Amino acid sequence: MEEKYVLVTGAAGGLGSAISNELAKKGMNLLLHYNRSAEGVRALEKELLKSGVKTELVSADLSKLEGPGMLSEEIINRGFHLSGLVNNAGIGRPGNAATVTDEDWDAVSNVNLRAPVLLVKKLLPVMARPSSVVNIASAAGIRVGVSSISYEVAKAGLIHATRSMAIALAPDIRVNAVAPGYVRTNINNQRLSDERILNGILSRTPMKRLGKPEEIAKLVSFLLSDESSFMTGETVVIDGGITLA
Ligand SMILES: NC(=O)c1ccc[n+]([C@@H]2O[C@H](COP(=O)([O-])OP(=O)(O)OC[C@H]3O[C@@H](n4cnc5c(N)ncnc54)[C@H](OP(=O)(O)O)[C@@H]3O)[C@@H](O)[C@H]2O)c1
Repeated sequence: MEEKYVLVTGAAGGLGSAISNELAKKGMNLLLHYNRSAEGVRALEKELLKSGVKTELVSADLSKLEGPGMLSEEIINRGFHLSGLVNNAGIGRPGNAATVTDEDWDAVSNVNLRAPVLLVKKLLPVMARPSSVVNIASAAGIRVGVSSISYEVAKAGLIHATRSMAIALAPDIRVNAVAPGYVRTNINNQRLSDERILNGILSRTPMKRLGKPEEIAKLVSFLLSDESSFMTGETVVIDGGITLA
């Protein structure tokens, strides 16, 4: 029987590397996708080899229209078979309904929404039955904010797409999402370094702290595993309660 891999997009990022570490701990072979972080992904790969799993690198710019097609073709042509896919790559750009630029709208929706949906579709021929997809959405896709319409709408779309994909791909492929609140990574480090913004977030969060990458990673690992074998189409919010407040 051929060996199976889990594809993690944006593997070298803050959440991506925590997710990759957690999945490697569980013994999963990993296809580590990167775009700009060639050095970062090599360092991650070195770290993961200690857990004895197999790792391979794949690269694509998912903001480009041809990105999902190029990535899936590479995976199929290199003969990989997948038991799971974590659609984790994501970007944010500021801009509300009055100020968002065409370029930011396109880039944010391509990476956060278009790529996850098209990657699943294009990789179906090499996905094992059963297998599991986890989409990294966001608490920002649940509550309406004003700072980034492109990001919020893309993540809300991803939550809806998760439900739609779950119906279309059942019973063999489960599709779930996680919706994290704030976790300090490159995507928001600059914003969270503004004490006024950070304190505002902490005061609105019932648990009075940011999340840790490992906390998100453990939830992703659960959704990928057989432990969640009767769950599909679900979005699990993991945010210290900020969407409740
Ligand atoms: N941190 C939070 O508070 C938070 C909260 C809710 C949801 N999320 C979501 O969690 C996911 C991971 O984000 P993060 O917090 O770990 O941020 P991060 O450290 O900035 O990581 C983002 C990842 O996305 C990849 N990426 C960015 N642009 C890309 C492109 N054009 N093509 C392909 N890959 C691209 C990056 O790959 P390269 O570095 O290789 O270019 C990087 O690995 C995102 O979907 C984000 O929206 C984060």
